[in-house]
Amino acid sequence: MVVGLHRNAHVNVDLAAIKHNIAVELARMDEQQELFAVVKANAYGHGIVPVAKAARQAGATGFCVALIDEGLALREAGIAETILILGVTPAREATLMAKYDLSTAVGDLEFLIQAQKKLAQAGAKLKVHLALDTGMGRIGFRDQAKLSQAIDFLHEHTAQFEFEGIFTHFATADAKDQEHYNYQVKKFNELMKVVTTRPRYVHVANSAAAMWHTDCGGNVVRYGVTMYGLNPSGAELKLPDTFKPALSLESELVAVKQLQPGDGVGYGKTYTASKPEWLGTVPLGYADGWLRRMQGYHVLVAGQPCEIVGRVCMDQFMVRLPHKLPLGTKVTLIGQDGEQKITAQDAAEYAQTINYEIVCALSERLPRYYK
Ligand SMILES: Cc1ncc(COP(=O)(O)O)c(C=O)c1O
Repeated sequence: MVVGLHRNAHVNVDLAAIKHNIAVELARMDEQQELFAVVKANAYGHGIVPVAKAARQAGATGFCVALIDEGLALREAGIAETILILGVTPAREATLMAKYDLSTAVGDLEFLIQAQKKLAQAGAKLKVHLALDTGMGRIGFRDQAKLSQAIDFLHEHTAQFEFEGIFTHFATADAKDQEHYNYQVKKFNELMKVVTTRPRYVHVANSAAAMWHTDCGGNVVRYGVTMYGLNPSGAELKLPDTFKPALSLESELVAVKQLQPGDGVGYGKTYTASKPEWLGTVPLGYADGWLRRMQGYHVLVAGQPCEIVGRVCMDQFMVRLPHKLPLGTKVTLIGQDGEQKITAQDAAEYAQTINYEIVCALSERLPRYYK
């Protein structure tokens, strides 16, 4: 991946805001609970290593990733705490995970059978968190019999496995309607009946469960989107104002011109000037994660909302300006300039998606600046 260090567009990440959001959550948690910072997907676009280091300083005692390679990047950066891979990993990589002390989610017996052979050959031991599918329908054990088999297998092969954790993931903890959440809690409690010896970590809470279901239990909170100051519920449930968004996205005008009536803008000529007007070009596009769907939305140019006209290109897009503005004028795509603000949630609502997708989409070619 090439990072555009010499371009006029960048992401700012306020690590103090991330630390603050962790402190707020730690103060809400029970004393015996630990906070694992979810830093998968390049820390939701914020930058995996700097965020993990800031989270550790703020009191995170573990980290969650989605990929083995994300775990390896953290180890390479000197992160020595527990790292849990939340997704299904290939059994052929069991010894690699063991070597770097990466804990992995396991959702079926087949993984354990295959991994056991590899681990036995290598004389290695892998930390395992059993995933329970209580209603997310994604990964994990769904019935007591299969879960028991897996637990027995782990107990029979203690030279190859450490049964470190067990967890589930809620599908609707961020929703007003609690019916499915309650169903998942019931299902979790049923499945847990076959777990006679509880592992070190039992965890169920993501940001939404930690926020709106404080009694959901477990001794770890897997703290994701709220750590970045974003609301897991979008516009449905209100997040207290104490959480601070950590990311802003900024650029500047690199071309300014006057259009005459009839002049077209962008691929497909989807915009045509009807009167003389000023147009600015912003050097950022869908390859950076500023979605094509943003046509018709606005950004702040010198603090003023300006409409995005014409299609968003791969590396550039155009905005209608209120009047002639100098080259280099500041453009804020996400963040605050003066009185005006555009949040990731605002952009998500326009693009008919969730704030998670807006920040995760910001590609690695945008440089990240940290304060
Ligand atoms: C299993 C699991 N736990 C925790 C999280 C963190 O969720 P959130 O960002 O909503 O806190 C995720 C995110 O996708 C996840 O997949």
